[in-house]
Amino acid sequence: MDKPPTWIFAWPEQEALGRSIATRLGLKPGVAELRRFPDGESYVRVLSPVAGEGAVVLASLDRPDAKLVSLLWLLETLRDLGARRVVLAAPYLAYLRQDTRFQEGEGVTSRYCAKLLSSAFDALLTVEPHLHRYASLDEIYTIPSRRVGVAPELAAYIRTRVESPFLLGPDRESEQWVSQVAELCGAPFAVAEKTRHGDRSVAIRLPDLERFRGRQPVLVDDILSTATTMIEALSLLKKAAWPAPLCVGVHGLFAGEAYAALLAAGPAGVATCNGVPHSSNAIDISEACARALEGLL
Ligand code: R5P
Repeated sequence: MDKPPTWIFAWPEQEALGRSIATRLGLKPGVAELRRFPDGESYVRVLSPVAGEGAVVLASLDRPDAKLVSLLWLLETLRDLGARRVVLAAPYLAYLRQDTRFQEGEGVTSRYCAKLLSSAFDALLTVEPHLHRYASLDEIYTIPSRRVGVAPELAAYIRTRVESPFLLGPDRESEQWVSQVAELCGAPFAVAEKTRHGDRSVAIRLPDLERFRGRQPVLVDDILSTATTMIEALSLLKKAAWPAPLCVGVHGLFAGEAYAALLAAGPAGVATCNGVPHSSNAIDISEACARALEGLL
């Protein structure tokens, strides 16, 4: 039986989350230098004595293309230096939304990313992965994986901020998250219908919400990328004379000016989990990650 990993190497902007997980599990914070050579190539140096021991690499895979090569070099360096088992803890797991060939000739990149990471790491932990057409990560990942659910954390946040909420998921896929969070909040919920016309173009049809009058809407989604989905749902609610909604997301990716655009749309607030570092992080998921990681180790 493998000994549990003892080191945790957190991606530079995730050191706080790494420290918190390390403290909860008694892991040693690993020291690695990651930087770019002037020509853009990745430099990796591991300064912790990992020989014969296990390691966790904590790296959310938002903006994945900028990280993947350094991540793989870090993994290879750890193995080269004798680490016995290397677990990837990626609170946000990239590429899951391209889970089918939507148009002829497209790459099904969820599969390719799964193949790459499965061939590199020994196990995977991730938070609320965007599973829509796949029932589980095991359909595409060949390594053992753990899926961290953060519905209790979202519900706890909403309960302390909104006295009488109703939850609204912007599309059918969101029902899996919204229903759980609503139950934990003791609040009703509904989901809208969304049709995506392009990266930054969606059409949303709200269901009949009149039975919720007197409550405050809370929009809940897993990923906020361009924020187009949230902004469209928010403006429909405003047009229908609802109070400004609180916007809650698991993974605040916020491409380009997305966050500023969302704030400009006038939400009551925007809160995301600290699995992807961002100024909107208000929901701490370190305990949930640590619990799941402990099970995986
Ligand atoms: C999509 O299926 C996801 O659950 C999110 O609704 C989507 O990724 C949000 O993207 P955006 O912020 O670009 O509208």
